[in-house]
Amino acid sequence: MKDLVDHLRDCHELTPEQYRALLTMRNRQDVDYLMQQAREVSQQHFGKGIYVRGLIELSNACRNNCLYCGIRRSNRHVARYTLSREQVLACCQQGYELGFRTFVLQGGEWGEEQSQWIAQLIGEIRQRWSDCAITLSLGEHPRETYALWREAGADRYLLRHETHNQRHYSLLHPAEMSHAHRLQCLEWLKELGYQVGTGIMVGSPFQTIGNIVEDIEFLVDFKPHMIGIGPFIPQHDTPLGRFPAGSVDLTARLYAILRLALPHALIPSTTAMATLATDGRLRGILAGANVVMPNLSPTDTRKQYALYDNKASLGAESSQGLKDLAAELATIGYHINWSRGDAPR
Ligand code: 5AD
Repeated sequence: MKDLVDHLRDCHELTPEQYRALLTMRNRQDVDYLMQQAREVSQQHFGKGIYVRGLIELSNACRNNCLYCGIRRSNRHVARYTLSREQVLACCQQGYELGFRTFVLQGGEWGEEQSQWIAQLIGEIRQRWSDCAITLSLGEHPRETYALWREAGADRYLLRHETHNQRHYSLLHPAEMSHAHRLQCLEWLKELGYQVGTGIMVGSPFQTIGNIVEDIEFLVDFKPHMIGIGPFIPQHDTPLGRFPAGSVDLTARLYAILRLALPHALIPSTTAMATLATDGRLRGILAGANVVMPNLSPTDTRKQYALYDNKASLGAESSQGLKDLAAELATIGYHINWSRGDAPR
């Protein structure tokens, strides 16, 4: 097993059978070796600094109906909200003063009628905080919309592919959504010069180890600048709300494999990791993740952005929240890196 880890570290690619072996190995020492190598590679490229991104949950209104997601269109139990322009700018102002230099605007997928409004908002953020990166996570849109937002000043875009297996994709999404269209969106985003992030949920319903191997192969081939991966967590008002949650261990193992395959990638230790385990965020970092995304959303709308049950929100809205994060990182010898943290080109 150690040979496989070394090979992945040195050559950045394995065969599907070899990925499967790493995902399923049970020997503790082998697993520790994988984690340790991933950590070392991460430290070679990024040191012990962890980038922070200020997450602003723009709206929980969504036209999509993904079977796993708490803010799906059909969920009548959600009180829908959309932040006002003033609220978003206030989040940015507060975030900037706290030290953030990346803002992530995330939200449900809206219709194209709203695209101009978002473009104006991006333009304003770009102008007022010109030294900050703007990341969008707003779902699937036509190429023209992505182009409009890019021209307005957006730098990065997060759009998880969710699963690279078409059959699996169709078990997680309604018939009107397609895996092919999602891939098309990812291609457009790359062409338009965005730093692009994609990824999956680990342990999503019906997922097999073989599916995860396919996802790794896709990621190695697509080479995203950022990789967003978290364990699946059921949301009780969704059709898949009775499936069990994914595993923090397997997710961390996947971070480690991807760190060795894509050494320069920006890999967040995600909120879902922190939701399932109190030390989830740290376990992600010890597996080679190098980003965390504290929540800058107004506290009263936060609970309404419930993609899954008991969603943690690392409260960075106060400087105390950041002190707590810094203290948590310090327990494993890491610190916050306050720079923009662009992906190496
Ligand atoms: N559990 C974990 N992650 C989820 N997401 C949506 N619903 C869930 C859930 N129940 C993730 C999806 C989406 C991202 C914004 O949140 O992967 O791309």
